[in-house]
Amino acid sequence: MAEAATGGTGLRFEMDGEIATITLDRPEKRNAQTFGTWSALARIGDELPEHVRVVVIRGEGPSFSSGIDLGMFTQDPGLAQGPGPAEGPGTDSFAAAAAHGDADLQRLIAEAQRGFLWLRRPEIVSIAAVRGHAIGAGFQLALACDLRIVADDVMFCMKEPALGLVPDLTGTKPLVDIVGVPRAIEMCLTARVVGAAEALRLGLAEMAVPANELGQAVQDLTAALLAVDRAAATATKRLLQGAPHRTLEAQAAAERTEQATRIRALFASSK
Ligand code: ACO
Repeated sequence: MAEAATGGTGLRFEMDGEIATITLDRPEKRNAQTFGTWSALARIGDELPEHVRVVVIRGEGPSFSSGIDLGMFTQDPGLAQGPGPAEGPGTDSFAAAAAHGDADLQRLIAEAQRGFLWLRRPEIVSIAAVRGHAIGAGFQLALACDLRIVADDVMFCMKEPALGLVPDLTGTKPLVDIVGVPRAIEMCLTARVVGAAEALRLGLAEMAVPANELGQAVQDLTAALLAVDRAAATATKRLLQGAPHRTLEAQAAAERTEQATRIRALFASSK
């Protein structure tokens, strides 16, 4: 198992063959996140070895993540930072962020979002293994993954509006895609907690299991995903991701294009 250094970012990164595991690793702060966490996530995405097929995101301790570090509202939370303002985004408090000009502030947010967006790449399947609280940025990190396996004690909560913010870590699109606009409005604007049974019913989780079975459930799912041909899995994920944005005819055309490539790849040598 190879381990990458993510020292001081509140993250742990481990690889085991085709599986990469990212662990939110500040259990004493319920895995609260900062700009430093999101820069580190982006770097992991930048440097992810090509052979990795499954990325699992989990939290150390009883909570997946309590969301942004509340210290960002008042002070620098003290984790390692990304590059300083002269080099680009990275300072870890909202007061410092607010001092930026509009373009720099947007770049800072874009850099944070980059930490989440790569989890949708067709070449990988990302799985959030969620137990306990997944609040705000924690909920959005789970939403950034392709699949969510939850423990029966899960508590999803989109708390940003209650704190005067909007959810901006790429969470609004997958949330609306899954639950629809009315339910998303209701959930976000009340900051209420969604538990395991409701998450399953709404499609926010693919599976709910007892907390002590979460690790095994993720392992079983990962093994099933790895048993499928990689090129076919990548092409199929690409097709499925594009489906909501295409007409039936355009989707049928996309299927033909992908299948022609598959058929050639599988049978060209038998001509
Ligand atoms: N930021 C900074 N510190 C935190 C955070 C956070 N988001 N969440 C928990 N902690 C700290 C607590 O202050 C406490 O520290 P201490 O031991 O030094 O006092 C420690 O983590 C443990 O927290 P508890 O509250 O004791 O743990 P408990 O399991 O009882 O509750 C819970 C967990 C529900 C997550 C609670 O800590 C909480 O409500 N946290 C704040 C959640 C929040 O509002 N997040 C922002 C969401 S918005 C966004 O992400 C954009």
